[in-house]
Amino acid sequence: MAKIIAVANQKGGVGKTTTSVNLAASLGELDRRVLLIDMDPQGNATTGCGIDKKTVELSCYDVLLEECEPQEAIIRSEKLSYTVMASNMDLAGAEVHLLAADHRESRLARAIRQLDGQHDYVIIDCPPSMNMLTINALVAANSVLVPMQCEFFSLEGLSSLMDTLKQVQETINPGLILEGLLRTMYDARSRLTRDVSEQLMSHFSDRVFETVIPRNIRLAEAPSFGLPVLQYDKRSSGAKAYIALAQEIDGKTE
Ligand SMILES: Nc1ncnc2c1ncn2[C@@H]1O[C@H](COP(=O)(O)OP(=O)(O)OP(=O)(O)O)[C@@H](O)[C@H]1O
Ligand SMILES: [Mg+2]
Repeated sequence: MAKIIAVANQKGGVGKTTTSVNLAASLGELDRRVLLIDMDPQGNATTGCGIDKKTVELSCYDVLLEECEPQEAIIRSEKLSYTVMASNMDLAGAEVHLLAADHRESRLARAIRQLDGQHDYVIIDCPPSMNMLTINALVAANSVLVPMQCEFFSLEGLSSLMDTLKQVQETINPGLILEGLLRTMYDARSRLTRDVSEQLMSHFSDRVFETVIPRNIRLAEAPSFGLPVLQYDKRSSGAKAYIALAQEIDGKTE
């Protein structure tokens, strides 16, 4: 059975998409069969994988509204070590359509079940809000990976995210676990980063990934070339960090 990881944090710009794309690529590099699902209407993960949002024929939108088989919406590319279920602005409309639909929270879970046996990992990039798209991801997932910057307000946002997770666990997905908190854009020279990181360790200890993602310009440049950082600059500190994260996750999973 695939391990399904939702990459979520309602705070914007914390590295969800960068983590989703580069974790998918790094797990692919470890010869795992990986599907990356872009559940954000911004479609940043889609673009970051070199897929043109405007020409995508079948996307998460069609899958959630059951207008196609999940299998039909999977995009393969010779350039990538993983497959992609893409998104674009249409997906914002799916939210509205879902409001009146049956099983509206579990559409994605159902779609992924139909793909069973084809993947070792499914990585879901969530939008920066707690909407029906994120709920679909949390219902489908086995675990949640939370990227966060070590900044003052990060800890505050974290407690509201933990409350939401608890609600999902208590209602629709009791099996959901916290895969881990991932420190992103980490700057070891900054005192604030170190302080927040220490607080994080004291509150969440074993639930904080050992791997830290450094601030690295290569990670920010790679999406404009439509490539994961591993292909853009394999030797960069960003590429090495995401490989280490993939190994850390894969080591715990086996
Ligand atoms: N480790 C890093 N080092 C340098 N830049 C980074 C790093 N991680 C992410 N970035 C850059 O920071 C910005 C936000 O990252 P990203 O898009 O991954 O965040 P997000 O949480 O998905 O945002 P949103 O909430 O809008 O979906 C992007 O421009 C990205 O290239
Ligand atoms: Mg994003």
